[in-house]
Amino acid sequence: MSAIDKRFKLSALHRRILKKPIPDNIGYGYCLGGMAFTFFLILAATGLMLTLYYVPSEAEAYKSVQKITEDVPLGWLVRSMHKWSASLFIIFILLHTLRVFAAKAYRAPRELNWIIGVKLLALSMGSGFTGYLLPWDQKAYWATEVGTSMAGTVPFIGEYLVQFIRGGREVGGETLIRFYSAHAFIIPLCIVALLWMHFHIVRRQGISKRL
Ligand code: HEM
Repeated sequence: MSAIDKRFKLSALHRRILKKPIPDNIGYGYCLGGMAFTFFLILAATGLMLTLYYVPSEAEAYKSVQKITEDVPLGWLVRSMHKWSASLFIIFILLHTLRVFAAKAYRAPRELNWIIGVKLLALSMGSGFTGYLLPWDQKAYWATEVGTSMAGTVPFIGEYLVQFIRGGREVGGETLIRFYSAHAFIIPLCIVALLWMHFHIVRRQGISKRL
């Protein structure tokens, strides 16, 4: 171990990451953000595994999800873990937001981190919405049909917005590709970038004291 430590200076890194002093009156509520992050990591790992078999095309998407659930070894488990983690991710983000709100940690000097948090919340919801279409069954189709049509109520640009989101007039193959790209690449990359800022600010400012 000491040979590895000598080369990579792991104990210094360990000290820096885990030995930072925190206020002595904080409780389990301060773990909620970390729990959300844990589920994000599970989502990323299981999501990557699902991309090995999922096919984002009009003709193949439904069949590929059936194949994952029924034929691929442990595919049902990976898919279930992905679905459950998605719900728990959102639940823990909401609980974390409530904790931050109750602690009034949105006030200066943490207002920028609150704003980053709001963006994380919006992106996480977007991730859930785009992921919901991917099984390409009736429930997914109609949920997306209804959900995307709401953008049509935006004054002046509503119709353009719906077409932009759907990739055409109707929910179809183009929508599926668009949602897959957003769900598997664009949104997770944005979340990672914002999380990096979020954590960086928490480390710089230190966690707020309990009121
Ligand atoms: C992907 C979602 C998110 C993750 C993984 C995450 C993670 C974290 C973690 C680990 C901390 C430090 C420990 C803690 O307070 O729990 C933290 C702090 C903080 N988060 Fe989040 N967060 C997320 C979303 C949000 C949202 C939606 C908001 C508010 C709208 C928010 C606002 C804050 C603020 C203001 C702090 C500093 C709290 C303090 O100093 O007491 N976060 N976040």
